[in-house]
Amino acid sequence: MPQNKLNDLDPKSWLKFQKSWFIHNPPPRKKGVLTHPAKFPETMAQEFIEFFTKKGQTVLDPMAGTGSTLVAALRAGRNSYGIELNPKYARIAEQIIGEERVVLGAAVEGLTSEVLNADASRAGDLQLPTFDYVLTSPPYWDMLHARGAETQKKRRGASDLDVVYSDDPDDLGNVHDYEAFLEKLISIYKGLKPLLREKAYLTIIVKNVKKGGKIYPLAWDIGHELGKIYTLKDEKIWAQDNQSLAPYGLGSAWVSNTFHHYCLQFRNE
Ligand SMILES: C[S@@+](CC[C@H](N)C(=O)[O-])C[C@H]1O[C@@H](n2cnc3c(N)ncnc32)[C@H](O)[C@@H]1O
Repeated sequence: MPQNKLNDLDPKSWLKFQKSWFIHNPPPRKKGVLTHPAKFPETMAQEFIEFFTKKGQTVLDPMAGTGSTLVAALRAGRNSYGIELNPKYARIAEQIIGEERVVLGAAVEGLTSEVLNADASRAGDLQLPTFDYVLTSPPYWDMLHARGAETQKKRRGASDLDVVYSDDPDDLGNVHDYEAFLEKLISIYKGLKPLLREKAYLTIIVKNVKKGGKIYPLAWDIGHELGKIYTLKDEKIWAQDNQSLAPYGLGSAWVSNTFHHYCLQFRNE
């Protein structure tokens, strides 16, 4: 392999990651992170971080939730920063990162992992360093408010689990107009540009959203709109294969059981 400027992987691992789809069934979640309605698995985040950075580089998640990106970065030997609007999730993230540091011990002593409880639209005011990679997932529009969502129905029965992220008007999950939501989200990602190293990658994990009998192509709209600011390089499809099928539309209409997300790759060039 010629000199590897991007990561520390051997050619075999590099090639393996290049496949445009993968199946990753999230392992059961720990108690603290269960409170949060939608997180991605640390094990999956680590694979992305190890492809798009080298050891010692710095990763940002501007909507960090309970800190999966930061935990994965720590395991991968990378520095990380997370911005999270909801103080409860920011606290849980800090606690989980603290526990992870104890497990990893001396190996991660020199690494930074910092959670900032703030609105990501203010990222430019937070005195952040320059980043080598952004790994993030936005609220899937206001879908957590949808009464019919099967996973949410189960959660509604459990009092200690959140059904929505917050009631904060700055929380993008509370913006009910789709176009307004998209505009705010794109503007947050655009605001990160001055913080990103030239040629750094951004991975955005997102789904198209079904609402009122039609699709709002959130993933494709992000690809199209954000592609005007960063170069849209590629997609990688994350499929889950451990979910129960529900009989939506049985006998009358096509309604899929959607068990895949898009991992959109952008580059700052
Ligand atoms: C899909 S979740 C991210 C989950 C995260 N990847 C994890 O694995 O824990 C989206 C997060 O964005 C946060 N959020 C919404 N609006 C925000 C804003 N304006 N600034 C920062 N965070 C925001 C929500 O509170 C929520 O935790």
